[in-house]
Amino acid sequence: MNSLNDIDYGTPKRESSETVTLEIDGVSVTVPKGTSVMRASAEAGINVPKLCATDTLEAFGSCRVCLVEIEGRKGYPASCTTPAEQGMKVKTQTSKLADIRRGMLELYISDHPLDCLTCPTNGNCELQDVAGLVGLREVRYGYKGKNHLEMKKDESNPYFTYDPSKCIVCNRCVRACEETQGTFALTIDGRGFDSRVAAGQNEAFMESECVSCGACVQACPTATLTEKTVIRIGQAEHSAITTCAYCGVGCAFKAEMKGSEVVRMVPWKDGKANHGHSCVKGRFAWGYATHKDRMLKPMIRKKITDPWQEVSWEEAISYAASEFRRIQEQHGRDSVGGITSSRCTNEETYLVQKLVRAAFGNNNVDTCARVCHSPTGYGLKQTLGESAGTQTFDSVMKADVIMVIGANPVAAHPVFASQMKRRLRQGAKLIVVDPRTTEMVKGAHYEADYHLKLKPGTNVAVISALAHVIVTESLVDEAFVAERCDAQSFNDWKAFVSRPENSPEAMADITGIPADILRGAARLYATGGNAAIYYGLGVTEHAQGSTMVMGIANLAMATGNIGREGVGVNPLRGQNNVQGSCDMGSFPHELPGYRHISDSVTRAEFEARWGVTLNPEPGLRIPNMFEAALDGSFKGLYCQGEDIVQSDPNTQHVAEALSSMECLVVQDIFLNETAKYAHVFLPGSSFLEKDGTFTNAERRISRVRKVMPPKAGYSDWEVTQLLSNALGYPMNYAHPSDIMDEIASLTPTFHGVSFEKIERMGSLQWPCNEAAPGGTPIMHVDQFVRGKGKFVITQYVPSTEKVTQRFPLILTTGRILSQYNVGAQTRRTENVQWHSEDRLEIHPHDAEERGIRQDDWVGIESRSGQTVLRATITENVQPGVVYTTFHFPESGANVITTDNSDWATNCPEYKVTAVQVMPVTQPSEWQREYQRFNRRQLELAKLATTHS
Ligand code: SF4
Ligand code: SF4
Ligand code: SF4
Ligand code: FES
Repeated sequence: MNSLNDIDYGTPKRESSETVTLEIDGVSVTVPKGTSVMRASAEAGINVPKLCATDTLEAFGSCRVCLVEIEGRKGYPASCTTPAEQGMKVKTQTSKLADIRRGMLELYISDHPLDCLTCPTNGNCELQDVAGLVGLREVRYGYKGKNHLEMKKDESNPYFTYDPSKCIVCNRCVRACEETQGTFALTIDGRGFDSRVAAGQNEAFMESECVSCGACVQACPTATLTEKTVIRIGQAEHSAITTCAYCGVGCAFKAEMKGSEVVRMVPWKDGKANHGHSCVKGRFAWGYATHKDRMLKPMIRKKITDPWQEVSWEEAISYAASEFRRIQEQHGRDSVGGITSSRCTNEETYLVQKLVRAAFGNNNVDTCARVCHSPTGYGLKQTLGESAGTQTFDSVMKADVIMVIGANPVAAHPVFASQMKRRLRQGAKLIVVDPRTTEMVKGAHYEADYHLKLKPGTNVAVISALAHVIVTESLVDEAFVAERCDAQSFNDWKAFVSRPENSPEAMADITGIPADILRGAARLYATGGNAAIYYGLGVTEHAQGSTMVMGIANLAMATGNIGREGVGVNPLRGQNNVQGSCDMGSFPHELPGYRHISDSVTRAEFEARWGVTLNPEPGLRIPNMFEAALDGSFKGLYCQGEDIVQSDPNTQHVAEALSSMECLVVQDIFLNETAKYAHVFLPGSSFLEKDGTFTNAERRISRVRKVMPPKAGYSDWEVTQLLSNALGYPMNYAHPSDIMDEIASLTPTFHGVSFEKIERMGSLQWPCNEAAPGGTPIMHVDQFVRGKGKFVITQYVPSTEKVTQRFPLILTTGRILSQYNVGAQTRRTENVQWHSEDRLEIHPHDAEERGIRQDDWVGIESRSGQTVLRATITENVQPGVVYTTFHFPESGANVITTDNSDWATNCPEYKVTAVQVMPVTQPSEWQREYQRFNRRQLELAKLATTHS
């Protein structure tokens, strides 16, 4: 249903260089060829009544309410399905049309509950609007005939209801599920009068394949499909456009509000990353923002075994500052550091790294990208010259071949997956490189042409073998390489990949992929037209993560698949602002804009602006911070919006490191796992409570707007500012836009960015500067950022994490649609109804060998630790491979993962852990200890409230 104040043009916009001019009710209108008469009318400000049409879906022509008269044509064509033609003369308002429309409405209303006054969508119902528009005053058929008024509601979905008694069978929901979402969960069941919308095989929504994206709810013109929050709270009064705080797609939403309460989140039609679509997380899972677990008072304690003490903001900030200064005096300047948050805004992230560099006086700052996409930053910078993806999401609509490597966008980047699936339904070819059979391999109306089901840890062998085929079968785009790439590096790479040991045949044993399949995939990628690569953490979270990123860039350059729409190298960034946190200088070796801290010219600019002398030496990365903490040389950490205890590998090692610190300051909205080791807790603010910007995976900078006051009194950037001032380094920003102005002035790729420009343009893709004032949708168009594209040799080196008799299986990890990352937010929403525990997926063969049955408790042991999960037996994993998610702290997935990491960036090798799996009857020792510790920490936090 239409969101507050949105104009619905009835049918989608058409792009065409040709235009047609027609006359509608005496008004001359010019529109692109292919535009419907309905849309042309709406563009001329003429409102033709409609029920089954909406501008997010292709016209269907079923309701017959939008009929018009066209000069020289017989009958009354439906304006939604009739294309506008040159010279057409259309009448939308005649007495005959009014009679027909009234007649149609009478039929609908005679089978519709007349409870408008008490209906939740009263005032926001298209049926009600159209009845008013056509002047319906009476229903001649009466209301006593055969009708659907007694049909039962389906309340199974936690977020929306389906009330079939109100359905007008306009088919909009069915089309939304097909066209927009691509799930095909809905059908119209029955014929004629008996027809009604049905989920799955006429099941409850929750039993069907519905993924609760809400597209059908948004499309429904009546109260049939309605958000439960709208039913509970009523219609919204005002709204603001903001950006989703979950994944790196960065969907734009209209937050519809009543006072300061969110009524619903409606994906914004003009959002350039999502075009009015969303997933279950962004649209529905925002209840965590007002969850009772929110921590709203600052707290301090001397030791982590002490009860927390609630204190004022002033006291907490001054305690934290004095502790940091004390530690630095006792243990040296480098004994403290900070971790920026990829959940926070660019402005907040920038301030934390500034605080570390300017107020702490060192470069001990890092961010969660360390554990996800740091190899992307390194690999793309080396080869292409810029540490970011090359395309817009929309670019996929021009791709002929889509290669998805180590990513499951259906679960992790769902809105982009819907767009990708739309392109696949249009006929694009698909190559999936993944050890698991994910939803990306096969779904409604698409199937991968090639699934390279590799053994975990052999990515680099696969990419070298793909390159081998391309080079040895003369599939290289020689002209592109000659013009755009560095010749020496290309020749070296060509010689390397051509070696027989890199052939698919030679690699087959290592990768597990039959040579003919790999050859077919390579040929398709190189010769199938525009070929685009999308990749995820299955590429980066390996000992050779950076090598693999460079291998991907090599492949794109060698085939000329870079620098235009439909191609490119596209990292699917995980967290909402992980791109931004990297851009903002969160790494210990880089200032904002990816400029090395050792570069004296760059440093001088920051020194002049910040009024300090910067340390030219890179600081500690997160794993080095842990090592230094255990060595006794690192004692204080300011950690904003990041749960390192749950998200980083080898949990016991992390916990031990944090336990050895003297001042751990955690700023978060919940008492997360890391906060249980903290000495100072500073309440964080959710995305609904602050202003700023997020940058998504396509480098798109979008506004985050405050729709409610910060629950604890301050937005996160204000808290960092207070801390900096208390440390004696003054910060005096009045608004996040001032921070962005500073970022823009100091960062060449952001020179043209300002809040004012983002307001004007909706969003901006960096680089945005003098050379590209409107931003840069596609990168490396005429030349690479580094000049000539550089090929890098990608020698496959097997992981040191080897399967042995003791640890014969490989554990790999991933995500699920309904939960998000460490789950701190989604676990506090109804999304737990889809996924309430992490499970271990195991192949039937491995399960049988170990006597494991479906749902059995199984112990998983690696060289790092042990945990216990329930088993799901599935052929989605191959024999020898087990898989789990890591959304629940008690699962301890990261108790199992090891300290192994990427050679270049220290990104952990989450995707390859050698394990043994056995049936067990009780939790692991770590889990029992976790439960004890967790219970105690919750009690200590509770005592703070009781004592205050
Ligand atoms: S919520 Fe989404 S997936 Fe479910 S039926 Fe509606 S459109 Fe389809
Ligand atoms: S549920 Fe809504 S959108 Fe679907 S057919 Fe019925 S009225 Fe139309
Ligand atoms: S796809 Fe990502 S950004 Fe979009 S609504 Fe879902 S979680 Fe939010
Ligand atoms: S709106 Fe055109 S037929 Fe329904």
